[in-house]
Amino acid sequence: RQKLIQHNTIDDAAKLLRRSRKIMVLTGAGISTSLGIPDFRSKGTGFYDKVRSLGYSAGEEVFDIIEFDRDPSVFYSLAGDILSDLNRFSPTHAFIKLLQDKGRLQTNYTQNIDNLEELAGIDRKRLIQCHGSFATASCRKCGDRVPGSTLFADLRAKRVAKCKRCEKAIAEQAKQPKPPPLPTKKKPPSKFKLRKNDWESSSGDDEDDNIPTPGVMKPDITFFHEKLPDTFFDRFTEQDSKDVDLVLVIGTSLKVAPVSEMPHHLPPEVPHIFISKEAIEHVNFDVQLLGECDDVCFELCRRAGWGLRHEMIPKG
Ligand code: OAD
Repeated sequence: RQKLIQHNTIDDAAKLLRRSRKIMVLTGAGISTSLGIPDFRSKGTGFYDKVRSLGYSAGEEVFDIIEFDRDPSVFYSLAGDILSDLNRFSPTHAFIKLLQDKGRLQTNYTQNIDNLEELAGIDRKRLIQCHGSFATASCRKCGDRVPGSTLFADLRAKRVAKCKRCEKAIAEQAKQPKPPPLPTKKKPPSKFKLRKNDWESSSGDDEDDNIPTPGVMKPDITFFHEKLPDTFFDRFTEQDSKDVDLVLVIGTSLKVAPVSEMPHHLPPEVPHIFISKEAIEHVNFDVQLLGECDDVCFELCRRAGWGLRHEMIPKG
């Protein structure tokens, strides 16, 4: 997108805030780091650096659905670190809520999975959780959906969570009287099977292979190779791509498609403001306000003449 030359400074940004009525806010992990939740790509402190330091080649593989279905223990051994059941939110969340209270928030598209927008009071109708969240979880086998919090103990204990509904069904099935075995062709007695500690004669009936196993639970986070929720595409294409008057992008490296594509699908006359610690080269923002997003939001509100009331999170 082309930069609009008339907007450059933080005062311009404050003026844009005051004059806009349909603000689209696009957020990323940077808005929750002041609460102690790591972001993904910051050098040294980001979750993916930690994952790499444990020997995984790419941090993203933790959130890859193909890897998850192959071996869910990788996700379960690491995801506890980004799990949040905090009962507080950041000043930046409070800023977005303030926009809503002032009737200026069109939609908050969040890439975050911590669900803190809900805690901050962002209206469900104005919130699109582009990458899902930990709020609910589903079984990969039977699809049963449960509150995400029921997995938290397993995530913290680094234990793969199994589906309770599948477990119940298996237990019920085990109680049913077994039908008489069908006549089978006798297999040659010479077959041996490797067991844990010994060699043991096997009848050749590979019973173990037929034992039903419960499905693995997965938080309803959108993994790589999974489609984003329909609400994301519907709301953006049918409404917001035609009907916003300001875009605020806060605390994201904007590296993950399709969210990273959103600025390119908005009318060129809609101003874009970027608030984050690190500048972004691949999108032309009209104003880039670099720093701690909580500080920037306070300052923007001060210059807009709005009171943002929220306790600052002590640093360090
Ligand atoms: P990233 O970690 O890629 O980017 C977060 C950005 O926020 C970085 O550029 C930081 O410099 C900046 N930042 C961190 N703390 C900040 C602070 N206090 N104030 C201002 N800026 C700060 O995270 P996202 O862009 O959100 O997917 O990542 C996008 C997606 O990639 C995530 O949703 C995640 C990941 O794979 C899933 O969870 C499925």
